[in-house]
Order: sequence, then C-alpha cells, then structure tokens
Amino acid sequence: EQSGQVLPEQPDLKIIRRQISGFVGFANLPKQWHRKSIRRGFNFNLLCVSQKGLGKSTLINTLFNRDIEASSEVGFSDRNDEVNGKMDGLKIEDSQDEEIETDREDDVSSSVKIKSYTTTIEENGVNLKLCVVDTPGFGDAIDNTGSWKPIADEVNYRFDQYLDAENKINRSLENDNRIHACLYFIEPTAHYLKPLDVEFCKQVHEKCNLIPIIAKSDILTEDEITVFKQRIRKQLDEANVKFFQPPTYAMDDPDTVKASNDLFEKIPYAVVGSNSSVTNKEGKTFRGRSYPWGIIDVDNAKHCDFVYLRDLLISQYLEELRERTNNVLYENYRSQKLIKLGIKQDNSVFKEFDPESKQREEKQLHEAKLAKLEAEMKTVFHQKVSEKEKKLQKSEAELFARHKEMKEKLTKQLKALEEKKHQLEISISNQPAQSPAQTKKKGFLR
Ligand code: GTP
Repeated sequence: EQSGQVLPEQPDLKIIRRQISGFVGFANLPKQWHRKSIRRGFNFNLLCVSQKGLGKSTLINTLFNRDIEASSEVGFSDRNDEVNGKMDGLKIEDSQDEEIETDREDDVSSSVKIKSYTTTIEENGVNLKLCVVDTPGFGDAIDNTGSWKPIADEVNYRFDQYLDAENKINRSLENDNRIHACLYFIEPTAHYLKPLDVEFCKQVHEKCNLIPIIAKSDILTEDEITVFKQRIRKQLDEANVKFFQPPTYAMDDPDTVKASNDLFEKIPYAVVGSNSSVTNKEGKTFRGRSYPWGIIDVDNAKHCDFVYLRDLLISQYLEELRERTNNVLYENYRSQKLIKLGIKQDNSVFKEFDPESKQREEKQLHEAKLAKLEAEMKTVFHQKVSEKEKKLQKSEAELFARHKEMKEKLTKQLKALEEKKHQLEISISNQPAQSPAQTKKKGFLR
C-alpha cells in the first residue's frame, strides 16, 4: 500500500466455530464460577422510598417471604456522624460551646432518616446478604421540598465510601454498600404523579437502578391501572427519567428477549403485598388478601404485577442490577467525581499500568480531598466565629442595659438621700436655741 500498490480485496472475515475433539477442560468454567459464587455468597442493597403507610414493609416481607424487620440488624446511616466528626477539631474553648454544638447538629439533621435492615437469607444453599435501606420521613412533612436530598446524598455517600476503599493501598472491596436498586412506591391515586415523585425520580435515576411501583394497587380497577401506568410513563419520559431496563444480549434467544421486553413494558408494576395466607372456596391456601367480593392471590400474575417485580428484582435480574450498578452507575459517578477533582482520564486509549501516574493520580485525589476538607472546616470555623461574635454582641448589649439600669437606680437613690439630708438640715435649723444651763444638764445626764 505504501509503495502505491493496491491490495486485492479482502474476503469477509468469518468466525469459524470448531468443536474440540479432545478434553481441554474449560467447559467446566461455569461450574467453577458457580462453586465460587456459592462459597462467597451474594449481597444486595435495596433502597425503598415511600411515603408512610404505602405498604412498604408488607411488600418487602412478601418479596423475601419473611419478616425482614424482625430478623435484621438495624442501623442508621453514619453520614451525619461523619459530617459531625469533621468538625470535632474546631471546638472553641468556652463554656458556651455545648450550646453551639447542639445548634449545629439541629441544622445537619433532617426529617428524612436513613435506616437500614441487614440480614442474611438462605435458599437452596445460596446465601444472600440483604440490606434493605428505608427512608422514614420521606414525603411526610407539610413542605416536602428537598425531601429527596438526604436520599440522593446517601446514594452518593455510599459510592464515595466504595471509591475510598478502592483508593486504599490494601483494598478491601468485600463490603459493597452501594445501592443496587431503588424501589419507588407511588401512591395509588389513579391520577398523576406528584411533583415530589417526579423530582425524586429525576434526582436518583442516574445514581441507582430505579424501579417505580404502584403501591396497594388492589384499590384500583384494571382500567384505572392501565391509564395510570400510561400517565406515569409519559410523565417520567417527559422528565427524561430512565428506569431499569432488563438487558438483552446478542446471543439471547428470541424468547428471552421477548420476556425481558415484556417485563420492562409492565413497569411501573402495580403490586399488592400480603403477610398472611388466605384460603379460597376450594380450600387452596395462598398468600393474599381477602375482600368481601373475593380474594387476591399476590403470586398470581392475573391478579397483580407482584410476580413481575419479583422476577425483575430477584429471580431473573438481581445479578444484572448489581453489574449495572458497578459497571455503569458507579463508573459514571467515579469518572465525574475524578473530573471534578481535576483528574483527567483518557478513555480512548488503553494505557499500560504506570505506577508513577497512578501514584500521581492518587496524590492529586488526596490533595483535592484535603483541600475540600480544609474549605469545609474553614466554613464551619467562620460560622462558629460569627455565632460567637453574635453571642458576645448580645451579652455586651445586655451588660450595657444592666449598667444603665443600675446607674439610673443609684441616681434615684442619691437624689432621695439628698432630699432627706436637706429635710434634716431644715428641721435642725428650725429647732429653738437652748440655754447653756440646759445644755450642761443634758450633757451631765448623758
Ligand atoms: P410505615 O413503615 O409506617 O411507613 O408503613 P409501611 O409503608 O411499611 O406500610 P405497612 O406495610 O406497615 O402497611 C400499612 C397498612 O397497609 C397495613 O395495614 C397493611 O396491611 C396494609 N397494606 C399493605 N400492603 C397492602 C396492599 O397491597 N393493599 C392494601 N389494601 N393494603 C395493604
């Protein structure tokens, strides 16, 4: 080509698949993978966001077929603790410090709390470490503006924790606290989504695999559910919100692709939860809810979408949810964060591992973190100083007022005494003069 010669046209490249006649052994790879996975177990972090009383606990218990709350270790997010911890070094030695600390804590805390339930469940020898992250207080206030923020912060915080663990010399990535899926409970109004619903979905859909569900859908008719689902999809589409879509691969057979598309099209799932069993007229017992007009079997796809939700979340796509969290959502977060911190990366070129540049990158990351921490500490310091100044000004004004009051009181007293003195002087001068003999006698008698 360089010498100007035109090369003959290349025939189309074809991949030829050959069967190996002898034993090599890599056909065992799936078995090895299976053994390893069983040994290691799986972990799954599920964020549940719902207003009070929309049937969240009931649905989670129905999904995992146990009382999750009763069998779990309960914990609160340590995100606020960390914010407080950063400021510990800033205590100003003063008796009024305690008061300032309490004021600040009040600012940091929010009405939305992050509470997690961790438990290990086992099915056919497979262990699943499940963490259900609850958000009590979400949407329960009179003004719910910004209610989504503590939740979005928590998702970011968990990414940050993972990023920190990755950047350590001794990396320990066993503890994956990142949110793998977010179940968002929609109130079954059969109307439209509320602004808070849309805002929440907008804020988190790029941070976690969002799965919206219509809670307590047994209160809606079939037609209402169909219309409500269309409206929800339209509203979220207009807000550019993407929810989790089960992936399909080139090698998947058409049935798998269809099943996956069907699952996606049914979102938002109209679900019903139940913690108890009911028995129908034929004497069959199942998990459901009983009404004067009949019975709902939650595991029956004709009655509600619970089985589709279970398929998407657990039996078919749990591993995909985890993978997408790691490969797409976390990667996006990580690269954006590093870019923000001033670290450039070149994704188009696969470079060889260069320890020096890695070290430089880590140093930059560390310095950027220190700078951020310093800026935060400075802000808190200034805040504390201004609070102190305000208190001092207040007490100065109080002292001044007290001084003025005392001065006025003393002036009054002085005036009264002078008045008295004046009265005495007048009464002395008005007394009749005594004879010397009288004076002598009085002196003798004394
Ligand atoms: P908080 O923890 O207080 O936020 O409540 P929650 O959202 O966890 O709701 P919970 O599961 O405690 O259910 C509240 C009530 O709704 C209970 O009386 C449940 O029996 C009932 N409930 C739960 N799921 C459903 C459902 O699918 N349909 C109907 N009709 N009622 C339900």
